[in-house]
Amino acid sequence: MAILEKHKILEKNATLLLVFSLLVVTVGGIVEIAPLFYLENTIEKVKGVRPYTPLELQGREVYIREGCYVCHSQMIRPMRDEVERYGHYSLAAESMYDHPFQWGSKRTGPDLARVGGRYSDEWHVAHLANPQSVVPESVMPKYGFLLKAELEPGYIDELMSTHALLGTPYSEEMITQAKADFAAQADPDADTDGLQERYGEASQFGSPAVVVRNFDGKPGISEMDALIAYMQMLGTLVDFSTFTPDASR
Ligand code: HEC
Repeated sequence: MAILEKHKILEKNATLLLVFSLLVVTVGGIVEIAPLFYLENTIEKVKGVRPYTPLELQGREVYIREGCYVCHSQMIRPMRDEVERYGHYSLAAESMYDHPFQWGSKRTGPDLARVGGRYSDEWHVAHLANPQSVVPESVMPKYGFLLKAELEPGYIDELMSTHALLGTPYSEEMITQAKADFAAQADPDADTDGLQERYGEASQFGSPAVVVRNFDGKPGISEMDALIAYMQMLGTLVDFSTFTPDASR
């Protein structure tokens, strides 16, 4: 009974009630938030997820610059209609190297989280150059100019250093070899052992081989090459035939 009597003091004094309410919320907040700072990682490690190669990273820059995210999401929700249409729901780990993330907030066009490998490079070139040529009712704008926009890997190493600063595990070697790796991925005749060793099947990430192709089918490296290299790897890193969610967490 005595404690209830004391509680009356709180209930009758607004200022005191406010102070104690704040105290309770603060304690609750700390209990919820503080442990997160001591966890090494809040994202489950998933085999195959690796940082973007220099060419893919540059393609992602084009994607962001052109505002593709305004019409396309990259986040498959764990609901039946989405999973049946787009494939396995997105894992947190699949966007752990996205700075900033490209989940998007609106779908004027379809989700692109698993568009990699769904269409040929030629389809992408034709579709990006003139979406209505392949999907007559499409409202997507034309991006044919990307074919003519020659791409120099001018700042790719700086860009990768910035991503490294944000936590992407780009090694010194990856950064010093960035320009060479950039050029090698769009050239089927190039020596790509180094590229595969850093990012592909021979790497520490256990990811599938990096796709090396002349993505736009034209000589030289264009913004189209980079954008398609990026499109074609989206959602392809994790092997969902062997993936089992870690239920112990
Ligand atoms: C104004 C909205 C809009 C913008 C901006 C836009 N798209 Fe689209 N996109 C669409 C629509 C609508 C479709 C579905 C019809 C079609 O295939 O063209 C689509 C389809 C696609 C598809 C085929 C997806 C599938 O699974 O069939 C790809 C790939 C794609 N867009 C890539 C891009 C890229 C890359 C950019 C940026 C360079 C971009 N889009 C910008 C609206 C947009």
